[in-house]
Amino acid sequence: MKSPTPAQLKKLKAAAKTAAGRAYAPYSKFHVGAAILTSSGKIHSGCNVENASYGLTNCAERTAIFNAVAAGEKRLRLQCVVVYTPTKSACAPCGACRQVIHEFGPRARVISFCAGREQIDVSIGALLPGAFGPLDLA
Ligand code: THU
Repeated sequence: MKSPTPAQLKKLKAAAKTAAGRAYAPYSKFHVGAAILTSSGKIHSGCNVENASYGLTNCAERTAIFNAVAAGEKRLRLQCVVVYTPTKSACAPCGACRQVIHEFGPRARVISFCAGREQIDVSIGALLPGAFGPLDLA
């Protein structure tokens, strides 16, 4: 698991915070921002986008990853995923996002931070042990 440099981490945190400010969350009012660092050194970000049907809500982490693919990152390899919530405690990614993070970064580092002091800093392998992934289809 290659780690981002302090400068990259600073940029990732700033991008995740900015993205949280763009969240479309009129139902939960829970604003989430995510920023990802690709192995090519690029940063992409995303926010949660809710829907009146509730179930079609897209989390910030997946928005950021899908943004990267849509921006042309054909061989997307995630080095790090940073998540921000303006809450007291840090929030780990949901199960669906863990699966999508694993797809593009089976060795990615996941950092969640918040308005409080708490921070989560783990590998995706720790968040989703024994994951099903692309290699299972090879
Ligand atoms: N949410 C995220 O964006 N990421 C997560 O990992 C957990 C939950 C969003 C989905 C929904 O818009 C709101 O937070 C409340 O669940």
